[in-house]
Amino acid sequence: MNKAIEIALIGDVHRQFDQHDITQFNQSDYDLLLFTGDLANYRHREGIAVARQMAELQTPALIIPGNHDTLTAPQLLAEIKQWPRLRRWLAWGQPFRLRQWQRALGQVQVGGYSAHPVPGAEDVAVLVGRQFAMGGSVLHCQPQLQRQFGIGTMAESAARLCQLVEQTSQQKLIFLAHNGPTGLGSRPDSIWGNDFQAGGGDFGDSDLRETIAFAQAQGKTVLAVVAGHMHQHVKTGGQRTWHLVQDGIHYINAARVPRIFGENGRTHHHHIRLTIDDNSVTVREQLCQGNDF
Ligand SMILES: [Fe+2]
Repeated sequence: MNKAIEIALIGDVHRQFDQHDITQFNQSDYDLLLFTGDLANYRHREGIAVARQMAELQTPALIIPGNHDTLTAPQLLAEIKQWPRLRRWLAWGQPFRLRQWQRALGQVQVGGYSAHPVPGAEDVAVLVGRQFAMGGSVLHCQPQLQRQFGIGTMAESAARLCQLVEQTSQQKLIFLAHNGPTGLGSRPDSIWGNDFQAGGGDFGDSDLRETIAFAQAQGKTVLAVVAGHMHQHVKTGGQRTWHLVQDGIHYINAARVPRIFGENGRTHHHHIRLTIDDNSVTVREQLCQGNDF
């Protein structure tokens, strides 16, 4: 790697993406933009509107669909409740909605069980995890994952991701997922801790944890793991840890929601700057002001 690689990490969007962001990213020095997904809140058409806007991005960009992308509100409820028949029935329209969503995104690449080169860094790849993850090591959207990838269980999901690691020639890896891995804490304010049930708990996903451990056992260098889903604002109050380093891996929860917010009369647009210079990784929160553009 000759020059440092600059990557922007944009957490769960939830409709917060506008012309200022387009202008900023198009004029920036970023080599790549990584989105953790969740463009919509509860309506598919909200996600399509954001996707159309994101299609104006000129910097290479990669996104993983979150649990608010291409699901309808009743389907999301059926997935949360794990109602077996209803979730299967409500998933029928999802392939069509996913195609619509992909088309609306234009040049923005949609990842899932996939590996992607990093422009300008031939020894670094981004590995994209399981789509539509909702945490708790449950295989959500199983009907869609089965249709799209032939994945029916968490064990199959982990095996597919480990296979992807084996097939990736690059030595250095960045993982992009919608929800983070297990093993990083069980407090409500832990980076992927459960803040909506009394007593907390680890709300990460075990297939991602297994894959990271496998990559390390294979001698790969895992530079960073980037995800969202568990929003930084904790339901019981305060903010969760959004960045930690464990065994040399940078874990980043980019989901500051809303990512556009007002403070002291100014509008701030949140994202995170990940800088990779050989093996050194720097992570910096960026609060760009809407009136700076
Ligand atoms: Fe979200």
